[in-house]
Amino acid sequence: MGLREILKDLINAGGTGGLNWHVHAFQSQKRWQPTVTHIEHFLMHCQPRHKHLLLMGCSAGWMMPTTWLAQFTQIDAYDIDPIAQRLFNWRHGRALRHSQTQISHHRQDAMAHLPKIIEKHPQASIWFDNMLGQHRYRIRDETLVGKELCALKTTLTGRDWGSVHDLLSGPTQQVARSQDSRMQDVYQSVFPRDMGASYSQSLVQSLQAQGIWFDHLTSHVFTDDTPTTLIPWEFKPHYWHWLQAGWQSPL
Ligand SMILES: C[S@@+](CC[C@H](N)C(=O)[O-])C[C@H]1O[C@@H](n2cnc3c(N)ncnc32)[C@H](O)[C@@H]1O
Repeated sequence: MGLREILKDLINAGGTGGLNWHVHAFQSQKRWQPTVTHIEHFLMHCQPRHKHLLLMGCSAGWMMPTTWLAQFTQIDAYDIDPIAQRLFNWRHGRALRHSQTQISHHRQDAMAHLPKIIEKHPQASIWFDNMLGQHRYRIRDETLVGKELCALKTTLTGRDWGSVHDLLSGPTQQVARSQDSRMQDVYQSVFPRDMGASYSQSLVQSLQAQGIWFDHLTSHVFTDDTPTTLIPWEFKPHYWHWLQAGWQSPL
């Protein structure tokens, strides 16, 4: 790999992470806190079957509750970002040492190698940590992305797994602070599973959207009967994401 590629990788790690993402995440911690709390509540209600976790797209774990991670005795963390390991250990290392959680980092494409990774660890739960919505940025072929994301549930049949991922994202009018409570109501609601045009429209309108919104092609990651939760995320001022979180256990 030449110097140019190395630098490019450090800065944006395939367009989905890298220094750009870390600087933004570091500076956005206060604005992201309500979303981080929602994710924490969601995870605290998930009961993974195994004490071993495969953590996909870990990055520095900017939005990950350490307390949830600390329940595992072993974590294998995967990311393509060359600085993910160092920053993840900086943020969570001390607590994980305290809980005696063994952590191994792998700089690997978790989508491309998924069948091999899960085969190697049959007694592990799997969590995709805000990674699947990025697939579209990496693979530019929309049809292929939709197909691969939809096929995940087949690859993961019989496994204990979950994901939080971008569903939709786009520009909004400024949401006044007084409307924050409305965000809570939206989050608490149960949304229809079929992501038809009117469903997307109602989600987008609930955040006072304007302009063109981006579909991350993740609406068929879960089977239709998986209970999921929708979480609003103020990614930047005037730019929101709808995240979808779900957990699927084998019968
Ligand atoms: C939105 S960030 C994740 C946020 C992270 N979970 C956190 O709380 O900080 C997405 C991460 O997924 C990683 N990623 C994207 N596609 C990936 C893939 N196919 N395999 C492994 N990592 C991937 C990116 O490098 C990036 O670090």
